[in-house]
Amino acid sequence: MRVLSGIQPSGTLHIGNYFGMMKPMIEYQERAELFCFIVNFHALTSLTDPEALRKNTISAAADFLALGLDPDKCVFWVQSDVPEVTELTWILDNVTSMGLLERCHSYKDKISKGITPNHGLFAYPVLMAADILLYQSNIIPVGSDQKQHVEVARDIAQRFNGLYGDTFVLPEPEINEDVAVIPGLDGQKMSKSYDNAIDIFTDRETLDKTVMRVVTDSTPVNEPKNPGKCNLFALYRLFASPAEVEELRARYLAPGLKYVQFKKDLAQRIWDFFGPHREKRAELMADRETIRDILKYGADKARAIAMPTMEMVRERVGVKY
Ligand code: ADP
Ligand code: TRP
Repeated sequence: MRVLSGIQPSGTLHIGNYFGMMKPMIEYQERAELFCFIVNFHALTSLTDPEALRKNTISAAADFLALGLDPDKCVFWVQSDVPEVTELTWILDNVTSMGLLERCHSYKDKISKGITPNHGLFAYPVLMAADILLYQSNIIPVGSDQKQHVEVARDIAQRFNGLYGDTFVLPEPEINEDVAVIPGLDGQKMSKSYDNAIDIFTDRETLDKTVMRVVTDSTPVNEPKNPGKCNLFALYRLFASPAEVEELRARYLAPGLKYVQFKKDLAQRIWDFFGPHREKRAELMADRETIRDILKYGADKARAIAMPTMEMVRERVGVKY
């Protein structure tokens, strides 16, 4: 079973990315044929600062490697290092109806926020379909916001297979319902776009300051609190054992709990949780050539899979003459 997913290097990665995407992907390398990549072409739809794109790409790679992704147990690369993906995108563009893309929620949401769309934003799902189909992927673990894009990839594959004969594996989205959406400081979905994120690898001072910004309600100290409605509690449980969570729940239900004490405790737990990975990350970042070598090694492996697919596609559509 081939499992594939990607992440955009459009900012620094936060604990929502970790629990929602990176951790499940890292676990997959033990039980599936894992393809994990950094989708820098996609990031061009929102990022026009070349230095930032370069920096975020290396940083995302260092994050994954430091958190346990093993380049020998999976295929780990940067999207643009396999240029066949853009060739396939063009070919797929021609079997993709305008209506299919016009119906995409992610595109419609962006327009409704006032973003003036360019063609890249509109065609984003076709590039994503090429990512998925080029590697003949079976399972695509994604957040619920990306489910429709995987369905678009499946539609495009079906249309292509119908026109030109069986070529692509039909991919299936996998939404992990256990990983609820991680809340941000304000209780909305944690996202780099909402200024409510806790970064995985930040310095201690910033971490402490960020965790202090977690929004809590104004229940007085001497009254019981509601753990079910508290995003401090929701974040805390990610870094505590079940017994510790139960202990904290009991303290919420009894009078006397001071949120500030738990914020300090949460910051310490986040710091300790990522501690060993932080050291690994610092070592990697001190030697960026090694990071690049690892990514090139992954790109070679990815390309070895992409090339035969592309050869078949060129043949089928008739551009190979
Ligand atoms: P952001 O919202 O910060 O821009 P992305 O949309 O780039 O994050 O998400 C990258 C990956 O991380 C996706 O697989 C997404 O499902 C996951 N992810 C992002 N934010 C969260 C969150 N708050 N909770 C769970 N998973 C998340
Ligand atoms: N669009 C995805 C996101 O924003 C990232 C992505 C690009 C992706 N290509 C992919 C995810 C292929 C899964 C498979 O999160």
